[in-house]
Amino acid sequence: MILPDKAAFKRSLLAWYSKHARPLPWRASHDPYCIWISEIMLQQTTVAAVIPYFERFLTKFPDVASLAASDEQDVLRLWEGLGYYSRARNLRKAAQAIMTQHEGDFPQNVDALQSLPGIGRYTAGAIASFAFNLSAPIVEANTQRLYARLAGYEHDLKSSASQKFLWQFAEAIVPTKDAGLFNQAVMELGSRICRPVEPSCETCPVSKHCEAFKQGRQASIPVLPARQKATEIAQAYVVIEHNGNALMQQYAPGQRWAGLWDFVRIDLHEESSLRLKSIKTATRRPGLFPLEPLTEAEIASIEAQLQEQTGLPCRLSKTLAISRQSVTRYRITLVCLEASIDSRKQPPSDQYTWKTWDQITHLPLSVMGRELLTICQARS
Ligand code: ADE
Repeated sequence: MILPDKAAFKRSLLAWYSKHARPLPWRASHDPYCIWISEIMLQQTTVAAVIPYFERFLTKFPDVASLAASDEQDVLRLWEGLGYYSRARNLRKAAQAIMTQHEGDFPQNVDALQSLPGIGRYTAGAIASFAFNLSAPIVEANTQRLYARLAGYEHDLKSSASQKFLWQFAEAIVPTKDAGLFNQAVMELGSRICRPVEPSCETCPVSKHCEAFKQGRQASIPVLPARQKATEIAQAYVVIEHNGNALMQQYAPGQRWAGLWDFVRIDLHEESSLRLKSIKTATRRPGLFPLEPLTEAEIASIEAQLQEQTGLPCRLSKTLAISRQSVTRYRITLVCLEASIDSRKQPPSDQYTWKTWDQITHLPLSVMGRELLTICQARS
């Protein structure tokens, strides 16, 4: 492993960071709770998107005790739109574990932190170093790119051999003193200078320590894995309405959106997905054929599946909107539809419940659920 001169590297890095660090709200704090919340939010999410969520979350749940005592629905409602909702459920569970197993205080070592729900090696290292200044390594998206370039490591970074290498590199380079500042600085450098495409090597404070730069290989490091092709799917997304109530489902524990509420979704066949994917997205005004762009066969099939799924005999009445959304590797076309039933019946399954529009406004919804609610509210 080629390692930079540690002392010189740290000096150049920290001098740059003292001038260029962004004043992010969580950086002002050494409170492990603030650091933990911010780091969990920042997984898979950009800094700009996180800032308002972070501020709202800390206002509502200012400490571990308030989060441990929270209702999961309130935590999910605050998380709405950030995605990867298991992060929110785990935050609450970890807060409860800190209260019951650690007397309300964050454990001050990486292993104990890592044993809490939702805290992996990176987050444990971030809390240990930022809050307690422990000399703990970190590897996340920005640092792994930086470390791969510094070391001239030209392999797919996802493989377990690469991850092992990167953690070894991180362990070797993290200083015993100022580890918190050092880790924040490497992350900032990775995000601002050592960018994935067209890194700013000409202004990089540590370019003289960088193997990739010395060899002119910064464009080919890190090696990017082949992009997975997106899978097209289409769903009917149905508002079943009766007397000012709509039928809602709550996702069960173990499901990806566990705890969140949603309108009714029906998967459409592959040939429908391929046809619908190129239809323009828009809120619809019903024309001569109010269920356009669905075919008669699709309408019959959706109505049959609605009956099977909810136990209620529903009739589709109009198309409200066509929306498109990307979730992980799926491209989803949602045909938002309105349906009615002749008389209100209790759905036979516990998963479905009638809710008033006012109740729905306060439920934690999927992003598209919130959008469909807005469409429904604008309609009446
Ligand atoms: N990405 C992950 N953690 C971060 C942090 N603390 N500051 C900026 N970007 C980050």
